[in-house]
Amino acid sequence: MVALKHYRQHVRIAAKAGADVVICGAGLPMDLPELVAGTDTKIAPIVSSARCAKLLLQKWKRSYQYVADFVVIEGPKAGGHLGFSKEEVLEGISFEEEIKAIISFVKEFGKTEGKEIPVIVAGGIFTHEDILHAMDLGADGVQMATRFVATHECDASQAYKEAYIQAKEEDIKITQSPVGMPGRAINNAFLQRVEKGETCVKKCYQCLAKCNPANIPYCITQALVEAVKGNVDQGLIFCGSNVGRIREIVSVHDLMQELVYGK
Ligand SMILES: Cc1cc2nc3c(=O)[nH]c(=O)nc-3n(C[C@H](O)[C@H](O)[C@H](O)COP(=O)(O)O)c2cc1C
Repeated sequence: MVALKHYRQHVRIAAKAGADVVICGAGLPMDLPELVAGTDTKIAPIVSSARCAKLLLQKWKRSYQYVADFVVIEGPKAGGHLGFSKEEVLEGISFEEEIKAIISFVKEFGKTEGKEIPVIVAGGIFTHEDILHAMDLGADGVQMATRFVATHECDASQAYKEAYIQAKEEDIKITQSPVGMPGRAINNAFLQRVEKGETCVKKCYQCLAKCNPANIPYCITQALVEAVKGNVDQGLIFCGSNVGRIREIVSVHDLMQELVYGK
């Protein structure tokens, strides 16, 4: 997350340690090429509009003579932090035209620069058919999270996965995260306390560049870590818009069979 206080150090250290790829979102990673300079680490921004895609790719080229290695498009149905206003997310804006516009810009840009730039689409992809549809729009691949949380292999606690199985569509809440972006999560005791105005910042982890612990209802690091460890009533259960369709925990193997070959 670009919004992290130590975002630059995190990227530099990851690249020096030999990371194959760094993907940055939650903010505009304007200086990302500089942070991986001198390494073989590939870089990609996460964008939610053609305007941002244009801004970033042109800036990277102009200031660093760097052409993005790939681009991740994240739509309003994704889990976690969202690059849209709360109103846009709640109103459920149609995103297909924006996906097409981003892909068209990125592909044209790549052609001009003589580099193939793959585009990955994320947010709300649930079935084999959804993947085919993303490909029809021009995507080279998809990124999925929610469905993979509900797998045996996912390292989240059993309680976290159980919350996914129990969740219905009406249990989804859009919360304002201290990161400064809306976030999609399952409505639970924690979020209800936050809604009532209770604050619960135990200690400051110094995680965000712009955050005053005195002015926030909860600490994003604390809330996410509590949930993933299994203290779900004390934490934020991030999820995608399709969490209500999760019925059971499956193996990654079976999920991949379903996603790749259909049923
Ligand atoms: C529990 C959870 C945590 C996430 N955390 C991050 C994160 O730390 N950084 C990030 O870039 N995206 C994060 N995401 C977004 C996913 O990477 C992904 O792009 C998105 O959720 C895809 O939509 P889907 O969940 O409908 O498949 C998270 C998503 C979920 C469900």
